[in-house]
Amino acid sequence: MRQHRRTPRLLGTLLLVAAAGFSLAGAAPHTRAAAPPVRLVPAPASLEEGGAPYRITAGTRIRVDGTPEVRAVGEYLADILRPSTGYRLPVSSHGAGAIRLRLGGKGLGAEGYRLRSGASGVTITAGRPAGLFHGVQTLRQLLPAAVERRTVQRGPWGVAGVTVTDSPRYAYRGAMLDVSRHFFTVAQVKRYIDELALYKINKLHLHLSDDQGWRIAVGSRPRLAAHGGSTEVGGGPGGHYSQADYRAIVRYAASRYLEVVPEIDMPGHTNAALSSYADLNCDGVAPPLYTGTDVGFSSLCVGKPATYAFVDDVIRELAAITPGAYLHIGGDEAHSTSHADYVTFMDKVQPIVAKYGKKVMAWHQLTGATPAAGAVAQYWGLDDTGAEEKEQVARAARNGTGIVLSPADRLYLDMKYTADTPLGQDWAGLVEVRRAYDWDPGSYLPGVPAAAVRGVEAPLWTETIRSSADIDVMAFPRLPGAAELGWSPASTHDWDTYKVRLAAQAPRWDALGIGYHRSPQVPWPAH
Ligand code: ACM
Repeated sequence: MRQHRRTPRLLGTLLLVAAAGFSLAGAAPHTRAAAPPVRLVPAPASLEEGGAPYRITAGTRIRVDGTPEVRAVGEYLADILRPSTGYRLPVSSHGAGAIRLRLGGKGLGAEGYRLRSGASGVTITAGRPAGLFHGVQTLRQLLPAAVERRTVQRGPWGVAGVTVTDSPRYAYRGAMLDVSRHFFTVAQVKRYIDELALYKINKLHLHLSDDQGWRIAVGSRPRLAAHGGSTEVGGGPGGHYSQADYRAIVRYAASRYLEVVPEIDMPGHTNAALSSYADLNCDGVAPPLYTGTDVGFSSLCVGKPATYAFVDDVIRELAAITPGAYLHIGGDEAHSTSHADYVTFMDKVQPIVAKYGKKVMAWHQLTGATPAAGAVAQYWGLDDTGAEEKEQVARAARNGTGIVLSPADRLYLDMKYTADTPLGQDWAGLVEVRRAYDWDPGSYLPGVPAAAVRGVEAPLWTETIRSSADIDVMAFPRLPGAAELGWSPASTHDWDTYKVRLAAQAPRWDALGIGYHRSPQVPWPAH
């Protein structure tokens, strides 16, 4: 594995000898074999291997700092470990505990952590609870995969002896779920959140409105959800989130240290809204609901004051139930809006987002208008998108617009892996696992200053995706690659070692009930 190993080879060898000597002394002869090889995704910033392993036993206790957030991370860890180990694993802020979660340390940042494991236990230290949570994800991967099962399994439960010092390359590490083309229930969204958390993703972008469905209740505009949410692609029943449902998603995401970025797409991708309220249409006539998969045919009426009263109502209500910093206003594929109208529209709408205390996020077409101060543009072009379009994005970046990278022929999780992939689309190309992973967000767009890149996001559009099983097989194994691009230092980037670490995740997915595409590019273990 090409990871940073601060331990000089000689010292590592000495530690191994020491560990072997310890075992020979009879303390725990089988513990070494019990710890799986260290194969972490995303690759940590620094990994030292070679110490004695720790073994979780019936007597293990989890000691946490006394704050509610740290205790909650401790309980989350215990909830993962208890069903498979069958151990009690009490969580306490008093007394001894071989697994220790503590706030402290310096220089670990908002999300970083240090994990030390050895014969006497495991200590995770972080400056903030988010770092402890990410450290817990690392600890999961240091244990045998069977720990992820929900019924009692045979141990032993060894944790390899390591020192990991880790913090993310980028602050924005996202995944998007399109709940408009097909609706997904709160339970389905929570399931995906849990999968995202495994790989330290910290943003959940919800695409809440499109031509085929409006998915969030707006109290001042009840027909949006009641009518606009009443169908989906293919004509199924659709659905929507009540504001209480949405808050529940936001809370659950926060418990996994993800921030929800809600998107209301405009001025295009708005047929569901136009069908719900006739006065949003320039001709005053509400179109029928739409259940096909064409794009680019709808537009809010840019010249009508009613449009901005509508946008104000929607943004106000959504901002009030969204604790995160960003509201995503779409702005893509406005093919039925003239360029002049598009610029006018964005000039009017961005201040509404600011008025309700949020920052603008939008697809990168926003850079063809005038991005507001603090805005983030999400690039969804292709490797071979024209230089002019890329330069427009780069110019905005040089003027202070943040960039999140979602190249469609790299990170769109709805693209087919190969021509045989049963689900998904191929308009951006076929995206096998290596292609999704093997690029550098820091240098991807020419002329974009490295500091303008906020991170990466892997969107999943759902024209062909209807179930959690569908989500899983498109997201796995590409999602962990996107997560690694967002988290790991560029110096760890290496396909040949990545694919081995990725392969080691498969038994974990099997244990968690996550189906995945068994790409021939990856040396999977036998089933
Ligand atoms: C997009 O794929 N239309 C952002």
